[in-house]
Amino acid sequence: MSVKVNIRGQAAAPGSLAHALKDVKLKLVTISGKGGVGKSLVTASIAVGFAMRGYKVGILDGDVYGPTIPKMLGVSDSTLYVDQKTGKIIPVVGPLGIKVVSIEFALPSDDTAVIWRAPLVNQALRDFIAQVEWGSLDVLVVDLPPGTGDAPLTIAQSLQGGLDGSVIVTIPTEISRRIVLKSIDFSRKLNIRVAGVVENMCCFKCPDNGKVYYIFGRDAGKKIAEAAGVPFLGGIPIDPEFSQHLDTGRLHEFLAKNNETAKAVLSIVNALEEMYKDKLSQQPPPKEEKPKRISLLKLPGEEEEGES
Ligand SMILES: Nc1ncnc2c1ncn2[C@@H]1O[C@H](COP(=O)(O)OP(=O)(O)OP(=O)(O)O)[C@@H](O)[C@H]1O
Ligand SMILES: [Mg+2]
Repeated sequence: MSVKVNIRGQAAAPGSLAHALKDVKLKLVTISGKGGVGKSLVTASIAVGFAMRGYKVGILDGDVYGPTIPKMLGVSDSTLYVDQKTGKIIPVVGPLGIKVVSIEFALPSDDTAVIWRAPLVNQALRDFIAQVEWGSLDVLVVDLPPGTGDAPLTIAQSLQGGLDGSVIVTIPTEISRRIVLKSIDFSRKLNIRVAGVVENMCCFKCPDNGKVYYIFGRDAGKKIAEAAGVPFLGGIPIDPEFSQHLDTGRLHEFLAKNNETAKAVLSIVNALEEMYKDKLSQQPPPKEEKPKRISLLKLPGEEEEGES
């Protein structure tokens, strides 16, 4: 039997957002005021890094206009289902048991563009967050769309009060300075603690001569973090092998390698683990029952399916 379900179809009951996230110990969000700096890569890497340490992890891909998390984790062909009984969205389970929720799972094809206007996006994001059955998790990482505009604001506000920290991603250019400061300001205005700054593309180690090049300048991210009085979490080199693994959905395989880039990424996870050790060591809540009856998730405007 199939039933009519769409992302907006189920109004979030009052308090259901808190309910949806009540069994998540640590909720982190990645922010970058600028697009294309590696925010999704950092989000997915934090999730995989924690999962490699045995934590139960979830990722919410909140970038409705450019969802990339499923591709990086090799689960982009998956389908999202909704529990018919509870109306809750059941996350796709990716590598290392990571629970993944992304708008991409609800799109008919990889190339379909989401062209919703802001109010619809805002509603979809709110419903997404409130209606997901995350179960008990140690860590939930949320990937926001780039910038500090409407969509990131909506998702951050929807989670307001519930987020434990923001990870600000930048590249080490002086031009990024103002944008990083904006992201820090955004986080502070929303009362989200700044967990720290990650400097992606910090450098490149030439495979031919082993020399390290600081392509965009040296330590800009670190200096910005220091000037803003927030922690510096670490730098990630530009690594073509990393990029290849991401493009082919094998991020988890890359981080399992003992190379310098993987070590740099995992040291960022170490820093976060240390920072939030009290939260992470909280006792887990009692086990929940598994949902049984499921149906296909539909986008707003998609045709209803009849009974079969
Ligand atoms: N350190 C790195 N080494 C190699 N490739 C990288 C690195 N950082 C990012 N990339 C590549 O750059 C591209 C953009 O990265 P990513 O999607 O994480 O950026 P983003 O900030 O999330 O972008 P958007 O603003 O569009 O959401 C990806 O193809 C990724 O593989
Ligand atoms: Mg992205």
